[in-house]
Amino acid sequence: MTQTSSDRAAAVAALPAFARTELCARFDVRHPIFAFSHSVPTIAAVSRCGGLGVYGATRRTPDEIRAELSELRKQAGDVPIGVNLVLPPGMPEDNDPESIERELPERHKAFVAALYEKYKVPPPKRRGMRTRFLRSNEIAAQQMQAVLDSDVQVVACGIGMPTDFVEQCKRRGKRIIALCGSPKHARRAIDSGADALVAQGHDSAAHTGPIGTFSLVPQVVEVAGDIPVLAAGGVMTGRHVAAGLALGAQGVWTGSIWLATEEYGLHPLQLKKLVAAGSDDTVITRSESGKTFRQVRSAWSDEWSAPDAPRPLAMPYQDMLVGDLLGAIDDHEVEPLMHYAVGQGVAWIRERRSVAEVFEQLVQESRVTLAALSRITP
Ligand SMILES: Cc1cc2nc3c(=O)[nH]c(=O)nc-3n(C[C@H](O)[C@H](O)[C@H](O)COP(=O)(O)O)c2cc1C
Repeated sequence: MTQTSSDRAAAVAALPAFARTELCARFDVRHPIFAFSHSVPTIAAVSRCGGLGVYGATRRTPDEIRAELSELRKQAGDVPIGVNLVLPPGMPEDNDPESIERELPERHKAFVAALYEKYKVPPPKRRGMRTRFLRSNEIAAQQMQAVLDSDVQVVACGIGMPTDFVEQCKRRGKRIIALCGSPKHARRAIDSGADALVAQGHDSAAHTGPIGTFSLVPQVVEVAGDIPVLAAGGVMTGRHVAAGLALGAQGVWTGSIWLATEEYGLHPLQLKKLVAAGSDDTVITRSESGKTFRQVRSAWSDEWSAPDAPRPLAMPYQDMLVGDLLGAIDDHEVEPLMHYAVGQGVAWIRERRSVAEVFEQLVQESRVTLAALSRITP
């Protein structure tokens, strides 16, 4: 008889715990493995495996967030699930993309036009993921309301953590996780009421800071006191999970490892690039969003780092400058320019597997590694 994916997830959730940390008790999870993803099926599967899946909703409209969180609940059942928003301060008030487009410098627009021409990118079929709405206080307020109205138990704040939102989440019984790239961020997040901190090191995918995971995690642990910390940035195997625990974290926060799962459904050309890449094939560029962003190296990052390229604009101007082009590159499969956010742990991305297989391997390897470590203690 073939095992269904939900049987497999249930079997993983029933595996003996490899580490029973306070984090597990506070977030009601069996295994202290948290996952960030933009894919509802991926997140649902992680939570069904006994971890905690957190859905990345920052680029979704308020209506999409409502529909997707209710679909996530349906797929996950009654286990804990989370949602992530990125709420940077200093964004424009209104959702008025044209007002930003009018201010884009001619030199930057000419550079983008030249990329269309050089790589023969056909015109966009629709507005891109970064241009379909403007990152603005107006949209952020509606996204936060959609999250408040949902039944997710956990809210993770990427960049920015408005105190009023945190208080409202807490009144509704939601737990707050804050992503931190420095001890200073961690102190701020604690003052704003975080229930757990993610110490997200330089190795990690997407928006990332300058401090490496190995240096960052113990510093955040020191600042955190009895607030649990999750280690993030390069966690791809059970050895990384054990190392995170050794650094004082009570669990791990992962992103890149889920990109190659069947549930995530990454485009085959993107998957090919990730499988071919080693840790030194990722770069940090501001050309994606205006903030430092780790992705696999491609003609896109090379063009923006050329000596005659303009300096990327600040968020949300860069979003508006490149959003439609980025959408067109993916929609028309313009291979040299295609790229994806991924961390230095890309070296471990080798093949497509199910979330349950990846999760089970993490749990088993973590147990084996921790047992091996206990044996070397005299
Ligand atoms: C494709 C992708 C997109 C991401 N987007 C976000 C995001 O919207 N918000 C956020 O807080 N973190 C985002 N992250 C970062 C993850 O939350 C996580 O911190 C990071 O992936 C951990 O490092 P790792 O990739 O080495 O596991 C993203 C990660 C990936 C792989």
